[in-house]
Amino acid sequence: MKIKKITCIGAGYVGGPTMSVIAQKNPNVEVTVVDLNEARIAAWNDDDLSLLPVYEPGLDAVVGEARGRNLFFSTDVDKAIDEADMIFISVNTPTKTYGKGKGQAADLKYIELCARQIAAVAKSDKIVVEKSTLPVRTAEALKSILDNTGNGVNFHILSNPEFLAEGTAVTDLHNPDRVLIGGEDAEAIEALVQVYEAWVPRERILTTNLWSSELSKLVANAFLAQRVSSINAISELCEVTGANVDEVSRAIGQDSRIGAKFLKASVGFGGSCFQKDILNLVYIARTYNLHAVADYWEQVILLNDHQKSRFAEKIIKTMYNTVNGKQIAFLGWAFKKDTNDTRESAAIYVADHLLEEEANIIVYDPKVSAEQIYKDLDYLGTRSPEENRRLVKVVTDPYEALDGAHAIAVLTEWDEFKGYDWETIKEGMKRPSFVFDGRKLLDRKQLEELGFSYYAIGE
Ligand code: UDX
Ligand code: ADP
Repeated sequence: MKIKKITCIGAGYVGGPTMSVIAQKNPNVEVTVVDLNEARIAAWNDDDLSLLPVYEPGLDAVVGEARGRNLFFSTDVDKAIDEADMIFISVNTPTKTYGKGKGQAADLKYIELCARQIAAVAKSDKIVVEKSTLPVRTAEALKSILDNTGNGVNFHILSNPEFLAEGTAVTDLHNPDRVLIGGEDAEAIEALVQVYEAWVPRERILTTNLWSSELSKLVANAFLAQRVSSINAISELCEVTGANVDEVSRAIGQDSRIGAKFLKASVGFGGSCFQKDILNLVYIARTYNLHAVADYWEQVILLNDHQKSRFAEKIIKTMYNTVNGKQIAFLGWAFKKDTNDTRESAAIYVADHLLEEEANIIVYDPKVSAEQIYKDLDYLGTRSPEENRRLVKVVTDPYEALDGAHAIAVLTEWDEFKGYDWETIKEGMKRPSFVFDGRKLLDRKQLEELGFSYYAIGE
């Protein structure tokens, strides 16, 4: 079975970059990415590659190389389904906001809609690949919908979870630690292996059964998030004992059994995956009455929530227990550097906490729009949209945010912050001039010499 045409449903942070690289590395396979969102597809098709809807270093070059050759973006979902041999489902699976499992379980309505649409349209056999992160055993539901509502054609389901991290998506895709493919049908698995073999060494392509593959994705994210919560728990202990969390990270990370990565203390992890996937894991464990397992993983989230509110509390306490009417400049809003994604970003929750105390916040982020920032705050529903706009200002010049500020809070580790003219910034700020570094990004010595009062997580 040789794949000639691939369709991907969902042109988001996962579908867009992944399909771009698959097309780049398989010039003989035609790859079409479809989405219901017309504005998003228009942006993927924009001649100006700096306007792609997903910001990822290096992505413009990949899209520039493949688009129009064998990579296409379209809103015609039915046509793309009809023509494809292999269909990736890469739609969003947010945490449910209603009904059973609200706040924990994954909302599978978008997945189900896709399955029904594929079944209705398909007139020839298809391999359907789950790319979105899904609860274990979703493939079973998918298969049942496809087989029961289809036109009598054969569907093979594969699970092929994506491990790319945002901000490094292109390098992660070009050089993955592993590619995981779960499935039951050897021929279907082999067809997908061949797509990846165009650039990934065979020994890095792991094949498993469907359930192991689905579960491994959740577990990988849970383990990564757990490391961040573990070091963040230690950061609080460092602050009261005089230890330095970076030194502790280095000391333990050199132990090859522990490893050095994902031990950077921070204001808390964000992103679309960690919290959602752990909640999902917790929900599954509870469904099977495994309460000790569920409680264990839930602590990772509770500690992360604690870290975000602890940071906000630290700001309030240090500023003489009141931030009312004070100007607090936020450097960064994205959940990490090199992305314009703000989903579950710690900045949202820290801002919300400070706004409850009537602080005035001025935000600068090199890649996040004002529209997105207000959307994130409005989504919380804590206060009216008018109130959010009254208390929060968004600027495109960082010096405008910093000028006249009582305090600076670093929420995202954008490299450019390090190179700012801190001397000029100090002159323009109120005194005492506080810096709260939630990313341990800036140089304590330099800032203290300039007269800043500098606080960093875990020191
Ligand atoms: C994650 C997984 O890494 C990826 O494999 C999966 O496919 C999707 O979820 P992503 O959410 O894009 O990727 O970013 P990641 O680099 O994992 O960071 C997640 C959050 O943890 C960010 O807010 C980041 O700032 C924070 N983090 C990460 C820390 O605070 N400290 C660390 O040491 C590492
Ligand atoms: P992820 O981070 O998982 O890629 P995103 O929210 O960035 O999530 O992208 C998911 C995309 O899937 C969105 O652009 C959404 O419009 C699209 N989508 C959801 N359901 C469907 C559907 N039934 N058909 C086509 N596109 C869909």
